[in-house]
Amino acid sequence: MLKKNILNKVKLLEYYKLINHNLIYNNSAINRYKKDNFEISEDKARKLELLKKSILNQKSCNLKKQAKNIVFSDGNAKSKIMIIGEAPGANEDEEGLPFVGRAGMLLDKMLAAINLDRKKVYVSNIINYRPPDNRKPTEEEIKQYLPFISKHIEIINPKILVLLGSTAMNALIGKDVVISKMRGKWIEKKFGNCKTSVIVTFHPAFLMRQPAQKKMAWIDLKMIRDKITKFKIY
Ligand code: URA
Repeated sequence: MLKKNILNKVKLLEYYKLINHNLIYNNSAINRYKKDNFEISEDKARKLELLKKSILNQKSCNLKKQAKNIVFSDGNAKSKIMIIGEAPGANEDEEGLPFVGRAGMLLDKMLAAINLDRKKVYVSNIINYRPPDNRKPTEEEIKQYLPFISKHIEIINPKILVLLGSTAMNALIGKDVVISKMRGKWIEKKFGNCKTSVIVTFHPAFLMRQPAQKKMAWIDLKMIRDKITKFKIY
């Protein structure tokens, strides 16, 4: 009996050693962005968690009611390059991650062409929940989500902001611009305290429908590559 008690105590001590007491007795936010070399400051992690919570806590959002998951972001929150698409599709809704479907595969190829990948960039969307039947988000929905994505940009504080397609462009630059004129040009923009260089390029889903436009996207990608070199980002 005594031997069994001692054995149990030893087991318990071994178990206690496995517990990270710093985490348990620490009041600061858990840094969920701490994978690979993605570790960000606790302040940034806390701000991102708060932003995600405020999106999750919305009371009147029909998109949220119909979606399976929130699609908040993917990639490296420490990156100086942020990429913004339109809204999640069925695959993204299923996995809770942006650009994991066919358009995402093309996006990854586009990034690889200029030596980038998801560990080097941060990816999000204008809208964080899937619009039913993959329809375009309405003006109303974009208006509702604009404060969230603007805050998201401010928290990430990228030096380069890449907008994929006209929904992201019109939401963040203005409704009076058209993608045929706007793509492939650098503009400076402020989001709260974040001052960033913005470039618009074609959305990968559009490029899948119009492959002839890939040569224009390649021009934009090379502009991004040159800016990365100029800013000494990698
Ligand atoms: N298209 C987008 O704009 N975003 C995604 O996450 C997936 C497809």
